[in-house]
Amino acid sequence: MEILAVDHPLVAHKLTTLRDLRTDSPTFRRLADELVTLLAYEATRDVRVTSVTVETPLQPATGVRLARPVPLVVPILRAGLGMLDGMTRLLPTAEVGFLGMIRDEGTLQAQTYATRLPDDLSGRQCYVLDPMLATGGTLAAAISLLFDRGARDVTAITLLAAPEGLAVLEDAFPETTPIKVVTAAIDERLDENGYIVPGLGDAGDRLYG
Ligand code: PRP
Repeated sequence: MEILAVDHPLVAHKLTTLRDLRTDSPTFRRLADELVTLLAYEATRDVRVTSVTVETPLQPATGVRLARPVPLVVPILRAGLGMLDGMTRLLPTAEVGFLGMIRDEGTLQAQTYATRLPDDLSGRQCYVLDPMLATGGTLAAAISLLFDRGARDVTAITLLAAPEGLAVLEDAFPETTPIKVVTAAIDERLDENGYIVPGLGDAGDRLYG
């Protein structure tokens, strides 16, 4: 598994304001949206393209277009929905699937309450959106669902990741599996309630109340 914590002053700047408890919901939504676009730029570095030739006003030029099948973007409801527009701004032709998952705050186990994905994901590059990688249970379950449908190339984009959750993902999938996690930061640890610290609180609540 490849882990990329994006090291960029604009990412750090926006993340700092997201963490600030004084940041209100409208500002939080806007910043999360902007941050995802920056992360998406890094996360799509390996997006598949094919060579094409176009006619410029002067002469033919070689270039690339996104390969088919187009990538699949999968926000994990609820909080991942706050990352969808920022992602599709960079990949407007991507297909979008949805996963509804909620973590039981007692057991910290993830439960899936909605699945709307293409049946066959073989050969598809998949980008999973979830702001928080805490215990890793939610993303591990989400990636397993994509694998069950044939996906083999999965990138998770998160705003924050805990070392404990990253370790769970590394254990859950073999080293050779092409999974990538792109995050704005890796925080210190989880607290006794399974919250990322210092973190930014509950991303779903801060986005949607
Ligand atoms: C939060 C968060 C992740 C999950 C992370 O969602 O958005 O989906 O918890 O926890 P984990 O890594 O320990 O599994 P939550 O269950 O609060 O649902 P919500 O997005 O609907 O608020």
